[in-house]
Amino acid sequence: MIRLLFIGDVVGRSGRAAVLEQVPILRARWELDFVIVNGENAAGGFGLTESLFEEFLSAGVDAVTLGNHAFDQREALVFIERQPRLIRPVNYPSGTPGRGAAVFENAKGLRLLTVNVMGRIFMDALDDPFAAVKRELALCPLGEKCDAAVIDFHAEASSEKWAFGCFVDGKASLMVGTHTHTPTADHRILSRGTGFITDVGMTGDYDSVIGMEKEEPLRRFTTKIPSGRFEPATGPATLCAVAVEVGPDGLAKAIAPVRIGGLLSPAKPDFWS
Ligand SMILES: [Fe+2]
Ligand SMILES: [Fe+2]
Repeated sequence: MIRLLFIGDVVGRSGRAAVLEQVPILRARWELDFVIVNGENAAGGFGLTESLFEEFLSAGVDAVTLGNHAFDQREALVFIERQPRLIRPVNYPSGTPGRGAAVFENAKGLRLLTVNVMGRIFMDALDDPFAAVKRELALCPLGEKCDAAVIDFHAEASSEKWAFGCFVDGKASLMVGTHTHTPTADHRILSRGTGFITDVGMTGDYDSVIGMEKEEPLRRFTTKIPSGRFEPATGPATLCAVAVEVGPDGLAKAIAPVRIGGLLSPAKPDFWS
């Protein structure tokens, strides 16, 4: 069995503090094989710097995925080339720095494929996410070239996310939705064995508008005039994640939401002691 934890979009300092505090504890307590974090909002809500990325690795994170904010910190265009554990959406135009998929082996010799991909509904128009992920899964079939496969589908529309789950069902261990910063209650194992959740939620302060201090988003919604910067909210974060137990066939045997700290009601898997 392989134990996976996927942590949703880490927003600003509050979110980072929750990850740095909790990942070492959870790794040990649940004997996790792999921890993946979506880090697209880690640097002040916008992108990721190399020093913050390295802090995540030091805390015990195996891989960091991104999204539409991948390159908000310009340095990411450079350091992503020397950081194989940093993964940006695979369906950016060819020639974009970095990689959209990678396989990592842990100390037990287990191989995890991680793919990051962006949806196209209410998002920037990128290449076809379905065709892109089909290619990656064909290059690295579950049970042959990897023991588990996680797809971070970074998208706005729940319809597109459900469709994507059905598309990869039976070919991945987990399809986890990210980007909306709002956890959904529909975690389940799809009919052919892929663990699924429409959105895992963010790791940040929920006394906010999707992680940001309320003032500026409210001003923009009510007046349509931007008059300040978006700043991450600074209260205690809720760490939002999904826990997945993967069987020897690479498919999900159990999935549960994880919520620790902050404003949301707590949740943890009942299948790990
Ligand atoms: Fe995000
Ligand atoms: Fe996003």
